[in-house]
Amino acid sequence: MADLENRKILLGVTGGIAAYKGIELVRRLREVGARVRVVMTSGARRFVTAQSFQAVSGEAVRDDLWDAEAEAAMGHIELARWADQVLVAPATADFIARLAAGMANDLLSTLCLATDAPVWVAPSMNRVMWANPATQANVRQLETRDVTFIGPASGDQACGEVGLGRMSEPAEIVAALVDGGSGVVQSLAGRHVLITAGPTRERIDPVRYISNHSSGKMGYAIARAAVAAGARVTLVSGPVALATPRGVDRVNVESAAQMHRAVHDAVGDADVFIATAAVADHRPVAPAAHKIKKTGDSVTLTLEQTPDILASVTALPASPFAVGFAAETRDVELYAEQKLKKKNLDMIVANRVGEDDGQMVGFGTDENAVTVIWSDGRQVLPRATKLSLAHELIAIIAERMAATGSARSNRSA
Ligand code: C5P
Repeated sequence: MADLENRKILLGVTGGIAAYKGIELVRRLREVGARVRVVMTSGARRFVTAQSFQAVSGEAVRDDLWDAEAEAAMGHIELARWADQVLVAPATADFIARLAAGMANDLLSTLCLATDAPVWVAPSMNRVMWANPATQANVRQLETRDVTFIGPASGDQACGEVGLGRMSEPAEIVAALVDGGSGVVQSLAGRHVLITAGPTRERIDPVRYISNHSSGKMGYAIARAAVAAGARVTLVSGPVALATPRGVDRVNVESAAQMHRAVHDAVGDADVFIATAAVADHRPVAPAAHKIKKTGDSVTLTLEQTPDILASVTALPASPFAVGFAAETRDVELYAEQKLKKKNLDMIVANRVGEDDGQMVGFGTDENAVTVIWSDGRQVLPRATKLSLAHELIAIIAERMAATGSARSNRSA
């Protein structure tokens, strides 16, 4: 197991019964080389003493934003800057809610708001509190802001119930830090990854447009996973309601033509191109200069095809490793295989979209299930969050690039 040598971890401990596991967590983090500074909430102090954490961490423990002496030694902004990584374990439902709301009403929440470091959270609460839509909405909200969740685990709870909500064991938390967010698996280090995401809008008149249901969530998740894998990431994005992931260079566009231009502006030194955008296939030939009036029963719009951005990239003499998406409502894998050949791609990600028993799948949701297909292989990625699929996809891309010996694969020239 790779370790966390010299990694500066700010451990936030909040007021749950699992706070006592924080002691073992600090010990294990130190065993793998991390430096740990502990910040406790007032709730945490009801379960464990600051002295215990001070003894195991070998550092002063902070629990008060207004402690003048402690602030003089290392101010809270300095502490926020010191951290390479923030880990909140255990994180109560209340703390998760405050983090989601962006509150800064105690030292730990203030530090989380003031830090540039990745924030990881290991929740711990009663199973009904975890399943509550309010908590789940907070978790999803935080995930879109790059907060990574470890657990919770399932099993016996301190309240006597059994279910999902226990804090993950300290050993699992340390393993997650080592494997994941600490960026140890830098499979795309030094690579430039160009990604398109979201829908496009094709203008009909100044107030109307043709578009689609794409939320951009898959492309944004892939951008995050690529940054975590060490890549420089350019994200050409259609209009979406998502925050720009940390470390990503985002270029906003509206129409397919603008997306085409932005992609070709950035593709020069790209090693990988991942086209997740749901680009409108057609656009009005002549958008009206003024709002179209209700003059008759019907209006005829003449549409023309938009440029195929992905195909235009693979047609370049020095095309990057090109990955397409095939979102279909039926015969998904068949269409995907055809698209792989027709667009001369290195890899295609097939997923079904549309209504499933009255529920939307693929578009707009936080979860997805896909099949990744390349010329002589495939891998099924079962239903999971888009972020965890994104990490798997990036790993497969890095593996295929390594297997084919360069950023370019051996697809036909
Ligand atoms: O041909 P189809 O739209 O099904 O292909 C889907 C794939 O091609 C996706 O990866 C999508 O991002 C990309 N595409 C594109 N430009 C278009 C249409 C699709 O880059 N105009």
